[in-house]
Amino acid sequence: MRHLIDPLDFSSEEISALLDLADRICDDPAAYQEVAVHKKLATLFYEPSTRTRLSFEAAMLNLGGHVLGFPSENVSSASKGESVADTIRVVSCYADIVAMRHPKEGAPLRASRYSRIPVINAGDGGHQHPTQTLTDLMTIRRRMGRLENLTIGLCGDLKFGRTVHSLIKTMARRPGIRFVLISPEELRVPDYIIKDVLEANNIPYEETRSLEEAMPQLDILYMTRVQRERFFNEEDYVRLKNSYILTRDKMADAKPTMAVLHPLPRVNEIALDVDDDPRAAYFEQVQNGVYVRMALIMTLLGLKDPKAAKEGN
Ligand code: NCD
Repeated sequence: MRHLIDPLDFSSEEISALLDLADRICDDPAAYQEVAVHKKLATLFYEPSTRTRLSFEAAMLNLGGHVLGFPSENVSSASKGESVADTIRVVSCYADIVAMRHPKEGAPLRASRYSRIPVINAGDGGHQHPTQTLTDLMTIRRRMGRLENLTIGLCGDLKFGRTVHSLIKTMARRPGIRFVLISPEELRVPDYIIKDVLEANNIPYEETRSLEEAMPQLDILYMTRVQRERFFNEEDYVRLKNSYILTRDKMADAKPTMAVLHPLPRVNEIALDVDDDPRAAYFEQVQNGVYVRMALIMTLLGLKDPKAAKEGN
């Protein structure tokens, strides 16, 4: 049985196969509407979330399956003091697969050790967010036609942004990738990622404070929200929250083929006038997120691809 806890749990080849499946689903979603009939997805979300939870629910419903879960973290038994290990042993009796979001880093990994069903990490604290990364990869591949030879700028809260950590880890395995890390000093990428991922693998990277200077060289610009909920004090958040605001003026210096990604929710780091720019890819990312999650559920449950059977894929 397989889980998706860390973005490196799948090899680059497995990820490419999953993205191929997501592309086939995108081309003909109706062909997949009965693939997971009678299967149940449990969503265990112990942190606020709109899009990721709805995206998982939409994915399972699109496959003809069912979803079960609780509406907010305060109404689950965790608020009575139940351990993650017990919760997952119980949920293993109710569902076929589970997506878990948790404020504690490592909680989904712990759950996977006690689980009888596949566990998907839907975001653990400031650590990892592998399904957002699959979404990002699908968007990059569809926009640029490749996942190699790209200069990727990541901008904003690179310290607490789990989507940033997962994207760097995953893209660092592809050839010809260069990172430009754009953040204030206080929100730099954590040292463990610089040392163990970038330096250990000789991946070229540059750290800068200036979005303007970085802009002209970028193929991808990944904007992020300053993660208010992970700050120890409000003063620091207030000081740093407006560090970067992408505007239409700043876009003038970018390549005409650049793609702007953002995991959402956006607060104010992308001005609304950028939304109409054809390089804005963040709402397309949301749509892709449903297709990759459908592909992931199918892969982890070992469900047959109806298109693969017909077209001999
Ligand atoms: C991200 C997350 O939860 O880490 N959102 C998401 O899953 N789409 C990014 C964020 O909250 O800023």
